Amino acid sequence: MSNEGLDIDVRELPGVGEVTARKLKEAGIYTVRELLLYSPIYLSELLNISEERAEKLVITAHDFLRERGLISDDFISAEELLEKIKRRRYITTGSRNLDNLLKGGIATQAVTEFYGEFGSGKTQLCHTLAVNVQLPESEGGLNQNAIYIDTEKTFSPSRIVEIATAKGLNPSDVLKNIIVARAYNTTHLLLLIKMLPEKIKSNNVGLVAIDSAVAPFRAEYLGRGKLAERQQLLNRLMHDLIRIAELYDAAIVITNQVQAQPDIMFGDPTKPVGGHVVAHAVTYRIYLRKAKQKGLRIASIVDSPEHPPGETLFLISEEGITDPTT
Ligand code: GTP
Ligand code: MG
Repeated sequence: MSNEGLDIDVRELPGVGEVTARKLKEAGIYTVRELLLYSPIYLSELLNISEERAEKLVITAHDFLRERGLISDDFISAEELLEKIKRRRYITTGSRNLDNLLKGGIATQAVTEFYGEFGSGKTQLCHTLAVNVQLPESEGGLNQNAIYIDTEKTFSPSRIVEIATAKGLNPSDVLKNIIVARAYNTTHLLLLIKMLPEKIKSNNVGLVAIDSAVAPFRAEYLGRGKLAERQQLLNRLMHDLIRIAELYDAAIVITNQVQAQPDIMFGDPTKPVGGHVVAHAVTYRIYLRKAKQKGLRIASIVDSPEHPPGETLFLISEEGITDPTT
């Protein structure tokens, strides 16, 4: 999708009157293009309208933009796909090894998942990225701001200060440019996600970190009986995230823990929570684990169409994520 026409007001859509426009805006949907972020079923719940009406709205928005040449066809050529990938921007992780593994760092227009057991470095990585996105482009940043959604009460402003200071940045400036939201449960998390487009636009945000995106679902939807419901909500969340990343040219990073699988006898007895729903939705998936030496971590790239399988070492140090000192 191109980013032109982002600012066409929903009121300009044929068939949208004052009342619908107001409902849309109350739900955080201001522009025609933002309407395309929503599935009709979700939209009908949000606006308290029938599914038929919601579907019509989405189709009208789609046609409206296509007639004006503001979105390309849903079928795109491989060449266009390559162009799209080329337009991605990258945020350095702080480790050249890890950046190389990811072919340039954390990509915009994509959702990158880091999963691993406790202490594997997921939270440290999110903190580092919230600082690095603010660096100038010449230093591997995007010269933009960060949103940090914390579901585990592990966001630490003092750790941000430490990382920023070690990088020679002004810590209070860096802190000002990170917007933090604590999500208390899955309902709250989904509400915050609904507000993301507005927050991204008004705060020049290039990175959204969600630490952890999956843990609240795991905690609240326990047992087999709840599994279908959980997967459905997770599916919606993932779907929203990928569309938001593409639409606003933002990098979205989510973390996920691994669940022990005592029934597996061979290989690595762990796999990320959320199963195939998360696996299929995220653009990139990176598995983190501890190495023997203190502070050292191993990152491996899992199932990426764009990357050969591989792994690399990085270090968690005072200045956040860095390379091992050899
Ligand atoms: P869970 O959220 O429990 O699943 O773990 P996580 O993957 O988020 O781990 P986290 O990123 O919190 O990594 C924890 C590791 O980072 C610790 O084991 C420490 O070794 C290291 N670490 C945490 N804080 C600091 C710090 O302030 N300085 C340094 N040098 N290392 C730190
Ligand atoms: Mg953590």
